Amino acid sequence: MSRDDELAIEVGEITDEVIDVRARILRAGMDPATAHFPGDEHSCAVHVVARLGGQVVGVGSLIPEAIGDRPALRLRGMAVEAEFRSQGIGAAILERLLEVADARPDEISSTEPGVGEPEPIWCLARVGARSLYERHGFVAVGAEFAIEGIGAHVQMLRTSL
Ligand SMILES: CC(C)(COP(=O)(O)OP(=O)(O)OC[C@H]1O[C@@H](n2cnc3c(N)ncnc32)[C@H](O)[C@@H]1OP(=O)(O)O)[C@@H](O)C(=O)NCCC(=O)NCCS
Repeated sequence: MSRDDELAIEVGEITDEVIDVRARILRAGMDPATAHFPGDEHSCAVHVVARLGGQVVGVGSLIPEAIGDRPALRLRGMAVEAEFRSQGIGAAILERLLEVADARPDEISSTEPGVGEPEPIWCLARVGARSLYERHGFVAVGAEFAIEGIGAHVQMLRTSL
């Protein structure tokens, strides 16, 4: 595979490939079952896979999960293979996820999807990824906190455009 291979960004359902990347990158040394997230199979969940020359190089997901009482999508499982980081693949995955969410407003909260505002999107960001999310309209909510075994995080929120 060469760097000239074209990056393909695919949108689909949850697959073993997605869970495998999450397990290796985000849950290293932990029970691989923790790489499967509640809501992965929800009909409103969005899973994005980035491929270079057919090989999976990154993944990311949006999964319905309320923030407080408010229906929302949670950004989860953003992971790019180490040797392909800092080349814009994470941004490309995130942008595709946001495009899909913004194109189908009110999908979770309304009986009439497509008529209202896009749902808010939130995440618990690793602090290293904070600037990536800030560049895509997320703002930090509250102070940084530690998640045992994973590291420092901050809750971030992107409200309707
Ligand atoms: C976060 C991650 C998905 C970004 O993918 P990427 O392809 O490197 O992202 P891009 O090239 O589009 O953007 C670079 C941004 O990614 C983030 N980033 C880069 N390397 C990172 C790393 N090792 N760990 C965490 N974030 C990183 C930074 O925000 C960087 O922005 P900056 O240059 O302003 O600091 C990827 O680095 C990764 O998989 N990191 C390890 C797992 C992780 O931390 N996932 C995020 C959970 S919230």
